[in-house]
Amino acid sequence: MVGTVIQAFKDVFGQDMTPRVFFAPGRVNLIGEHTDYNGGHVLPCALKRGTYAAAVKRQDNIIRLYSCNFKNLGITEISIQTMDLVAQSHWTDYPLGMLQIFRNKGFSFDSGFDICFLGDIPNGAGLSSSASIELVTGVIFNAFYDFALSPIELVKLAQQAENDFVGVKCGIMDQFIIGLGKKDHAVLLDTTTLDYTYAKVDLDRYALLITNTNKKRELAESKYNERFDECQRALCDLKTVVPIESLGDLTQEVFECHALAIKDPVARRRARHAVTENERTIKACIALNEGRLIDFGLLMNESHYSLKHDYEVTCNELDTLVSLSQQFEGVIGSRMTGAGFGGCTVTLIEKKQVPSFIEIVGEAYERLIGYTADFYLVEIGDGAREL
Ligand code: GLA
Repeated sequence: MVGTVIQAFKDVFGQDMTPRVFFAPGRVNLIGEHTDYNGGHVLPCALKRGTYAAAVKRQDNIIRLYSCNFKNLGITEISIQTMDLVAQSHWTDYPLGMLQIFRNKGFSFDSGFDICFLGDIPNGAGLSSSASIELVTGVIFNAFYDFALSPIELVKLAQQAENDFVGVKCGIMDQFIIGLGKKDHAVLLDTTTLDYTYAKVDLDRYALLITNTNKKRELAESKYNERFDECQRALCDLKTVVPIESLGDLTQEVFECHALAIKDPVARRRARHAVTENERTIKACIALNEGRLIDFGLLMNESHYSLKHDYEVTCNELDTLVSLSQQFEGVIGSRMTGAGFGGCTVTLIEKKQVPSFIEIVGEAYERLIGYTADFYLVEIGDGAREL
């Protein structure tokens, strides 16, 4: 990949240039879904797959951006002096969103840059290709303009780019794990305090397998923001009866005592998911640390059930895959991962069963849904960095 991105850079921007190469991973969330904008916990890991970027700092004011994954869109060229950039609903929103947020925060760019991106995570599949592009861009800015930002500061700027420029009210999980991921570890992150601990992912005779439904995530952004608003409404109602700052402050027991304060039954179910999922995530991390993988898998299954019934962010494709997976011999847990409405599932499965799983579940999925799924074995890697 490194050689390929350097070659692509030279082919697109000029053979005489010598780019520096940077990388930011994609991510898979093991458990703790839709908890990060509710002040709860998440347990994601960084993937070895991600976004490679070859980049050069220029002497003039020109910015040129190119993605090998969107060759048909060609080179985007603007001047560093172009102010008030607006999102265009394509991939350049992520690097340009970073530029805009950095400038809004008072960081100044004394010259332009050329960046050529090459990703090996599927786009729009819920493995955070967008946050990966944001973070790799942030690491490049930090390196080229000596901003001396810490990884956490970069993570927060990337989340702001997504919230304020792209317009998705996402939490901090994706940017955080992509910024601070560690090889062979998941991160248990408290999204209220940003306290975090690394948990070794030692799966013994099991493997983590990602399956992509290949369903296009239509309307995912508007549905995502709708869930955000529903949770805010639930929180507002709850605050009238119990002193909390976020849904993550509640145990399930306390929640059940006050749940009827939430007037809208739909918002009540959304809040119940946020509360129960937060508890499951903490329990799952303890189970992982103690090597109780069967218990971990059961919590994954419960998480999917709650995302399907209380949070309603699954879809026929995700539910079909999860149900095929959960019934498969050797599978001890399976759930959707990421925002939902399409995208991927993550499955904990006995290593020796992986080839027959891919064959049999793959065939059944195609028969039931009408198109194929893709499978990726998870390898857990490090966070965003210069290579
Ligand atoms: C998306 C968002 C994250 C998180 C997940 C759901 O990936 O970017 O902040 O909310 O959905 O857990």
